Amino acid sequence: MKQAIGIFDSGVGGLTVFKAIRQAFPYQDLIYFGDTARVPYGPKSPNTIIEYSVQNARFLLQQGIKTLIVACNTSSSVAIPHLKKLSNIPIIGVIDPGSEIAVSYSKNKRIGVIGTEGTIRSKAYSTAIQRLEPNAKVFSLACPLFVPIVEEGWQDHPIALRIVQEYLKPMKDNDIDTLVLGCTHYPLLSHVIQKYLGEKVKLVDSADAIGEHLQELLSVEQDGQPGKDSFFVSDNEDKFASIASRILGTELNALKRVQLFESWFVD
Ligand code: DGL
Repeated sequence: MKQAIGIFDSGVGGLTVFKAIRQAFPYQDLIYFGDTARVPYGPKSPNTIIEYSVQNARFLLQQGIKTLIVACNTSSSVAIPHLKKLSNIPIIGVIDPGSEIAVSYSKNKRIGVIGTEGTIRSKAYSTAIQRLEPNAKVFSLACPLFVPIVEEGWQDHPIALRIVQEYLKPMKDNDIDTLVLGCTHYPLLSHVIQKYLGEKVKLVDSADAIGEHLQELLSVEQDGQPGKDSFFVSDNEDKFASIASRILGTELNALKRVQLFESWFVD
């Protein structure tokens, strides 16, 4: 039995990260958990995001995983130090890999970061980027409407370009040459974002960034047996499965619903 890599996200968007890892590591077993009962994390307080992230991580640790990937940018921006207290296995969020790539891409050191309200409020990306490149000027912006557009499957609808123009006008004015797509859903809008900002702005997809990080950790493990995929959600399996098939380009099998908590309410 192979030990799997565990990946969690607030919902379905983390499948962009899952897809990148599956492509890069065909022999690894992957277990994905999407917290569809409590999505979105973006507008929630840091304490709530930490509490949910710890519960998600505990569930995956119970499955005997060897590495934990936090695909959710909002969780990665506040919960990593808390998750590291739960286990000694490698626990990797998307902020550091994405920031490293952004700094390596940028020539003029004017870097944009877009994400959920929670991610932007945490300043996790700007702190990480400025730690790597103290002269960098970071322009951060929350784009909350991007998530529902993607979940609705409207990334090619004219409204997507309209909303991208509205949000990203300040980025254009600030003359950035690199933009971090700091949310699981945003890579699915990258063609629209690129069209608006033009080819001279490089887009950083944290899914790719994390793949490179994992290469260093896992490169020797190739046993020739195709890796198995397992998917767990905390609610709405049908909605998850339908958006998932759009993101992954294939139907899901091995999807199960789990309950992470007994009961929270007080009468
Ligand atoms: N997965 C979240 C992120 O990457 C986006 C969706 C949400 O708000 O939960 O930040």
